[in-house]
Amino acid sequence: MTGTAVRGVLWVTGASSGIGAAIARELALLGYPVAASARRSAPLQRLARHGVFPLPCDCSDPDAVAAAVSTLQERFGRIGGLIHSAGEALFKPFVEFTLEEFERLLANNVRTMYLCLHSVLPLLRQQRSGLVIAIGSVAAEKPFAYSSVYGAAKAAVAQLLRAVREEVRSEGIKVINLLVGATATPLWSASVRRRYRQRMLQPRDVADAVAALVRLSSLPQALPEELWLRPQRGDLP
Ligand SMILES: NC(=O)c1ccc[n+]([C@@H]2O[C@H](COP(=O)([O-])OP(=O)(O)OC[C@H]3O[C@@H](n4cnc5c(N)ncnc54)[C@H](OP(=O)(O)O)[C@@H]3O)[C@@H](O)[C@H]2O)c1
Repeated sequence: MTGTAVRGVLWVTGASSGIGAAIARELALLGYPVAASARRSAPLQRLARHGVFPLPCDCSDPDAVAAAVSTLQERFGRIGGLIHSAGEALFKPFVEFTLEEFERLLANNVRTMYLCLHSVLPLLRQQRSGLVIAIGSVAAEKPFAYSSVYGAAKAAVAQLLRAVREEVRSEGIKVINLLVGATATPLWSASVRRRYRQRMLQPRDVADAVAALVRLSSLPQALPEELWLRPQRGDLP
C-alpha cells in the first residue's frame, strides 16, 4: 500500500468500462483493496484477475445498492471510500430529447450518486474517516451545445457534493469532485474517438489523477475539494 490514510475497501462504481475500469485496475495495482460495481457482470469478472472484488449492482436501484453495501461490510469490514464513476451521457439537441431519455440520464448520473453516497456516508461518519471521489465533468460548469441534460445532471451532482462536503468535512471525511474533460471511452461514438484520438484524455490519465487524489487524502489537514482535468489542447471543438 502506497502511503495513504485510506483504510478499508475502495468501492469503484461504473467499473465495467472506460474510466471506472481504469481506476479499479490502477488502484488494485497500487495495492488498495478494491471492489467494482456496474450492471454488467462479465467485465467485472475480468477485473477480478487484477485482484478486484466484482460486485455487480444497478446503482440506480435502492435495494441493489443496499445489498452491495452489506456485502462490502461483510467481506471487508470497513469501507475506505466510494469512487463513483457510474454515469451515462447522451449528446443531442435539447428539443430531440424524450422524457424517457431525460429520466434515464438523471437516474444513471444523479440517482446513482445519491443512492451510493447515501448508503455509504453513515458508515464513513461512524468511522470518522473516509473518501468520496466523484468522476464529474467539466460540463457541470461549462455549457456545451447538445449537452443540456448531461450538463444539468453533472451540475446537480457537483452541487450536491459541495453541500455534503460542508456537512461532513469536520468529521474527517473528504468529498472530492474530479471534473474531467473529454476522455476516450465508449461514452463517445467511435467516430468522435477516432477523429480526436490525439487530443482526448485516456482513461489511464483519469485513473492516475484519482490515484494521486487518494494519496493526497492522507494529508490530515488538507482537502483537494475539486480538480479540473482537461485535455492539454483544451475541450473538443
Ligand atoms: N468520457 C468522458 O469524456 C467523460 C468526461 C467527464 C466525465 N465523465 C464521466 O465519467 C464517468 C464514466 O464514464 P466513461 O467515460 O468511463 O463511460 P463508459 O465507458 O460508458 O462507462 C460508464 C460506466 O457507468 C456504468 N453505469 C451506468 N449506469 C449505471 C448504473 N445504473 N449502475 C451501475 N453502473 C452504471 C456503466 O456500466 P454498466 O452499463 O455495466 O452498468 C459503465 O461502467 C461517467 O460518470 C461520465 O459521465 C466522462
